Amino acid sequence: MLNIEIDGKQVEVEHGATIIDAADQLGIAIPRFCYHKKLSVAANCRMCLVQVEKFNKPLPACATPVADGMKIFTRSKSAVEAQQSVMEFLLINHPLDCPICDQGGECDLQDIAMAYGAPKSRYTEEKRVVLNKNIGPLVSTDMTRCIQCTRCVRFLKEVGGMMELGLVNRGEHAEITAYVDKSVDSELSGNIIDLCPVGALTSKPFRYTARSWELTRRPSIAPHDGLGSQIEVHIKDGKVLRVLPREKETVNECWLSDRDRFSYEALTVRIG
Ligand code: SF4
Ligand code: FES
Repeated sequence: MLNIEIDGKQVEVEHGATIIDAADQLGIAIPRFCYHKKLSVAANCRMCLVQVEKFNKPLPACATPVADGMKIFTRSKSAVEAQQSVMEFLLINHPLDCPICDQGGECDLQDIAMAYGAPKSRYTEEKRVVLNKNIGPLVSTDMTRCIQCTRCVRFLKEVGGMMELGLVNRGEHAEITAYVDKSVDSELSGNIIDLCPVGALTSKPFRYTARSWELTRRPSIAPHDGLGSQIEVHIKDGKVLRVLPREKETVNECWLSDRDRFSYEALTVRIG
């Protein structure tokens, strides 16, 4: 075991743990977009920069393994300035369309911008636009909102088992796309909606039907997948509007099959 200090609090962590693991263990919030505990580490968003004693530049908490005696500062002047700078860069090309974005109210970018961003933008140049992709009947795309965290790409490859999305081009021209204009056919595709930290990937059946704060949430068990996946049923005005996974490490972890995510639509289908 290794003993380290984060923001003045001592914690004992296992060999190989990263700074973000240790901070999560202590309940210390470090902002993040690309990091997800179930996916490989990409360290491409840089939102998790923190100050580490004896290092003269901030380090990404998700990709930095801890060493014995390490002292980490997540809210020091240098850490806060680094986080604010990254936030400013991420917002350069992000549209200011929160009022018409389906992710509004449950958007990591919106929340982290409020908590860690600067109060106003200095950017006056034109923002770039990325064409939307038609990746099938379940997932809607608004690709100008994408921050290229690659969570969707890594999920489909590492958990879905098929590389159905990829990042093409570099820098200003980088964009997420399906391969040679194909749809995403994975039976787990709905999970990329949950993983997307912005409103780039949203649910086609659910979008524009309700705001997240209008929904009543009820725990339930998935009826179709034979696993007993834990789900949460979201209801408005007595009508089921969406189903999301509930985390249960020993059953469905934090994922849900498309069959159980979208079959609620059958509840309101009129026959004849
Ligand atoms: S579409 Fe969403 S999940 Fe995929 S890279 Fe862009 S921001 Fe990340
Ligand atoms: S969360 Fe660490 S670099 Fe993205």
